Amino acid sequence: MCGIVGYIGHRKATDVIIKGLQRLEYRGYDSAGVAIVNGKIRIEKQKGKVAQLVKVISANPMQGSSGIGHTRWATHGEPNDVNAHPHTGQKKKFALVHNGIIENYDAIRKNLESKGHVFESQTDTEVLAHLIEEIYEISDTDFITSVQLALNEVDGTFGIAVVNNDDPDTIIVARRGSPLLLGIGEGEHFIASDASPIIEYTNKVVYLDDDEMAIINRDSYEVRTIKNVTLNKAVHELEMSIEQIEKAGFPHFMLKEIYEQPDTIADCMRGRLVVSENRIQLGGIAHVLDRIVNADRIIIAACGTSWHAGLVGEYLFEYLAKKKVEVEYASEFRYQNPLIDEKDVMIVISQSGETADTLAAVREAKSKGALVLGICNVVGSTIARETDAGVYTHAGPEIGVASTKAFTAQVTVLSLMAIMIGQKNGALSEKKSAKLIKALNEIPEKVKAILEHADDIKKMSELFTYAPNFLYLGRSYNFPVALEGALKLKEISYIHAEGYPAAEMKHGPIALIDQHMPVVVIAATDHTNDKMISNIEEVRARKGRVIAIANENNSEVANLAEYTIRIPETHDCFTPLLTVIPLQLISYYIAVNRKCDVDQPRNLAKSVTVE
Ligand code: F6R
Repeated sequence: MCGIVGYIGHRKATDVIIKGLQRLEYRGYDSAGVAIVNGKIRIEKQKGKVAQLVKVISANPMQGSSGIGHTRWATHGEPNDVNAHPHTGQKKKFALVHNGIIENYDAIRKNLESKGHVFESQTDTEVLAHLIEEIYEISDTDFITSVQLALNEVDGTFGIAVVNNDDPDTIIVARRGSPLLLGIGEGEHFIASDASPIIEYTNKVVYLDDDEMAIINRDSYEVRTIKNVTLNKAVHELEMSIEQIEKAGFPHFMLKEIYEQPDTIADCMRGRLVVSENRIQLGGIAHVLDRIVNADRIIIAACGTSWHAGLVGEYLFEYLAKKKVEVEYASEFRYQNPLIDEKDVMIVISQSGETADTLAAVREAKSKGALVLGICNVVGSTIARETDAGVYTHAGPEIGVASTKAFTAQVTVLSLMAIMIGQKNGALSEKKSAKLIKALNEIPEKVKAILEHADDIKKMSELFTYAPNFLYLGRSYNFPVALEGALKLKEISYIHAEGYPAAEMKHGPIALIDQHMPVVVIAATDHTNDKMISNIEEVRARKGRVIAIANENNSEVANLAEYTIRIPETHDCFTPLLTVIPLQLISYYIAVNRKCDVDQPRNLAKSVTVE
């Protein structure tokens, strides 16, 4: 989704901003632009990739050491040069970039039009740029007050950065619902919508919260509320490193991230899975463990891949901890007039920690008195900060738009939580938890073993590159993996794919099966093996092409399927951590064969900050 970068200091601003925009490309976007203040504001913006913008700027370089930049993911108005940010006011005194949506833009626009304003674009953002300039010109207020007064008039969400020709040494940023952080350097400051553009210059950051703004100069910055109350904000240290956000020799971030999983799963368990003591230690939720154990219900809310992880969590919590769980789409939660109260615990799962729908679910549940826990990857993200307690997944930055290592890390955290709760409430005996803890501890090595066979998966994927449809079937813990496999394939290869609980096939999808339909059957749990074999027979009877994911020793499945991808044996409840790996690889190789933009698939955004 849209990205913001800004710089004021002693370097050439375009260099910092362009590099920053390239670091934000992973978020998904359709146009990009910069505004540099150098005597006069100069703007360059282009539809398409940052590379196109670079060509334009190289032909006519932009000098100056202060400016703002943006990658736009279209909401209001199609992706084109005019709708790209930055936008200016009527007299072009201000330039502004914006993430989010101004909901009452139409009313403001009409009002400004009645005063003679003429708009160039179809965006809500241009309206805000005009409004700030109108207030500045007409009311004769200063830069800061004009921004504050304008923001008090708008409904909706924003992360904005504004520059002003009359005050070239200041950048103002503000947020409501769209993340923004400020990087603090020596005689220079950086702004960005996430940390990736900042990390190579400084690891000192200030996170803005909703309804806060920062007034930024070269040597100083000040944070106030939009209502003008001065704040003393904590400076945080970023934990990420520049190596983590580079490709390290892999052709795509997605492949790098798939291969990182033995390490990310191990990192996620480090210090938490205490094998020698048969114990789980999750510091982030230890102080609320009693409340979790005594809760009437656990409600898990998330979107997309994180929702699939939540579904695995439901099986884990109900089986291992004997806790009643409901899994909700975070995006629907608040429309259900949810019956949730202080006796419930909500767990939200979010890689980015910025997903607007998930954040809305957090606020809804908190307002009704529930304890809200977060499972987030991005440290310091809004959801991580707004939840009552939580557990970080520690998977490191996930740059590929399609989530891979975040999923396995989320399932790992859910597994740890389920065992911890099960131990605490007596649902798990010493013996049973020892078995589980040992099995979980062995997962990273088993993931590594699957990755060693990636070439076989690559070869097999070539045979299915041009299949128009795919069906994914799983049962029990692997039903959510079937959904995840289908989502991964459609996201990055644009092949239509459906995931189903295997038993549902005969209630409809079986009508689709013929000799052209590849059916990926996840047959890796012992307790559903016989039933999965029946499903394979049903597909074969209709000439469907079966790709099976099965345990190493399952010769019965291997004899029936056209292709079998073997995974090492583990405890049934941890099979999702293994079965998902081949599915990620199948999607990746098919998308590469189809020459798709794997890391930045069309229309998708990494962090969905609009509702
Ligand atoms: C799928 C994918 C999305 C995200 C979803 C939630 O590959 O990346 O479906 O899982 O947008 O995002 P987070 O986890 O950041 O809340």
